[in-house]
Amino acid sequence: MRKTATALVITLMSSACAVAMPSRSVPVQAMTAQASIVTDAARAHPGLWPRAASPAAMTDRATEAFVTELMSRMTLEEKVGQTIQADIGSIKPEDLLTYPLGSILAGGNSSPGGDERASADKWVELARAFRAAAAQRPGAKVPLIYGIDAVHGHNNIVGATIFPHNIGLGAARDPDLIRRIGEATALEVAVTGADWTFGPTLAVPRDDRWGRAYEGYAENPEVAQSYAGPMTLGLQGALSADHPLAAGHIAGSAKHFLADGGTTGGKDQGDYAGSEQEMIRTHLSGYPQAIDAGVLSIMASFSSWNGVKHSGNETILTDVLRGPLGFDGFVVSDWNAHGQLPGCSNESCALAFNAGIDMFMAPDSWKPLYASTLAQVKSGEIPMARLDEAVRRILRVKVKTGLFNDSRPVEGHLNELGSPAHRALAREAVRKSLVLLKNEGSVLPIRSGARVLVAGHADDIGQASGGWTLTWQGTGNTNADFPNGQSIWSGIREAVTAGGGQATLSADGSFTQKPDVAIVVFGETPYAEFQGDVDTLDFVPTEPLETLKRLKAAGVPTVSVFLSGRPMWTNPEINASDAFVAAWLPGTEGAGVADVLIGDQAGKPRNDFHGALSFSWPKTAKG
Ligand code: GLC
Repeated sequence: MRKTATALVITLMSSACAVAMPSRSVPVQAMTAQASIVTDAARAHPGLWPRAASPAAMTDRATEAFVTELMSRMTLEEKVGQTIQADIGSIKPEDLLTYPLGSILAGGNSSPGGDERASADKWVELARAFRAAAAQRPGAKVPLIYGIDAVHGHNNIVGATIFPHNIGLGAARDPDLIRRIGEATALEVAVTGADWTFGPTLAVPRDDRWGRAYEGYAENPEVAQSYAGPMTLGLQGALSADHPLAAGHIAGSAKHFLADGGTTGGKDQGDYAGSEQEMIRTHLSGYPQAIDAGVLSIMASFSSWNGVKHSGNETILTDVLRGPLGFDGFVVSDWNAHGQLPGCSNESCALAFNAGIDMFMAPDSWKPLYASTLAQVKSGEIPMARLDEAVRRILRVKVKTGLFNDSRPVEGHLNELGSPAHRALAREAVRKSLVLLKNEGSVLPIRSGARVLVAGHADDIGQASGGWTLTWQGTGNTNADFPNGQSIWSGIREAVTAGGGQATLSADGSFTQKPDVAIVVFGETPYAEFQGDVDTLDFVPTEPLETLKRLKAAGVPTVSVFLSGRPMWTNPEINASDAFVAAWLPGTEGAGVADVLIGDQAGKPRNDFHGALSFSWPKTAKG
């Protein structure tokens, strides 16, 4: 069936291309829209889906009237421009004087002047430069909306608070904590001049070999269902009919719609092979809750359902999302995801737009995509009504986000980055995220007056933060890149010393004076997206196990602190440890680990373990 459909599409496309590329003398015919790529196996039936609804405040009368009046003054070029988003690494502010684009993003690897460790001031300057250029363009004045991946704090910015990744937050089971993290993240994003984060991620990872498992809260939907609303409200605040988002709040983008965590073998951007009912049960996740809370945008998933890419599935992006799910914001595609559709390229894809992508994330393809989309509207391949619907949704979100107001009261207040209040919040999150898997002989908590040896990678904030940290992959960072952070080692030393004890850092676990106990910190090194896809869950490095065995042979009790973006098969390490703690990817407040591991002078807990696994721990390396 799919072959026929594809063949049909290619046939249509080739005939359409034949029509679309006429010689100068032949007038362009009004082309029929490219046929749907949806097969029976990937056809969603709206009647099966639960109901949700964007708050009425998103489409209040004054906003809609404003949008209607503005659209009446916009040219076709200005309308099409609203549907195109460019990456700051591929567009200059002055380009906006010619191209009426509606959005820019700072992708995982993009930064001011290509400097991933640029100061926060430079980020503010960048935002202001693009905004000013957009304002100078003649014609209808429509402000840019500038998006960035602030997925565990404002993680692109040196000095920002880096919270635990979602896998650790899922272990905390604390929706109020999530709301507070959303608020803090939004404020740190707003002070640097951005308007919108590509989060929360509502993936429900079902195969931990996926390189993005850590971006999910849990392997079952219940946690995301309890977190999606609070995170949305933390980021955006409650929508109001009378005023836009309050200062310090930003637009959110629930992602990646849909079933991004359900791909076969955990392959990133792969295929979810399952029934519609199962997709609803497991992967609809917290989208209804996010929509009910007013999430202003939703990002379509790279992945496919039964062989059909979501970016081109109108039964998902339009029939379901704008039907029973009642979503009134806009849908943004993922990074050139439209180019993966049959008959499409990064530079041209009416199919995705007609299926329900309102804004193309076209990082480096924005210029030709703008031209092709404009041509497709002129030719009728993209119906004018479809363009108007997308533009209305985008402008509506810009109004609700407050972008038409000149004032940005918190922009430039860079003291909010890594503020004491935000660091304390992150430290609380770290404490609540830790999961105790083993504690033989009650090695934990460690008496604060003890002699403690700390081995492994305890003094590496970058490793503790994981992917999406300053750089896309989270690699190449040193502690100097986290001026407002504290490593796990530093936190342990502080806590032990405060209790009159002694802490020594020894990466290989060697010592001269025998310690009372050794803490060995080890785990995965940072990765993001498909670069983190693995074939098995076996924790391969052997050095930590050798260290644990040496310490055991010397009669030193050991506590393992395991840093990972997913549960892994670590039976040898667990068996060689007296205590074993899953710490996930805690971020820049490593002292939160010591808050739990190091007790008082009597050896009583100062903060007991709170976290509970939100992902199954594997019995075998196959997961
Ligand atoms: C990436 C990711 C998405 C992210 C976007 C912008 O490819 O899939 O989660 O928001 O591009 O960086």
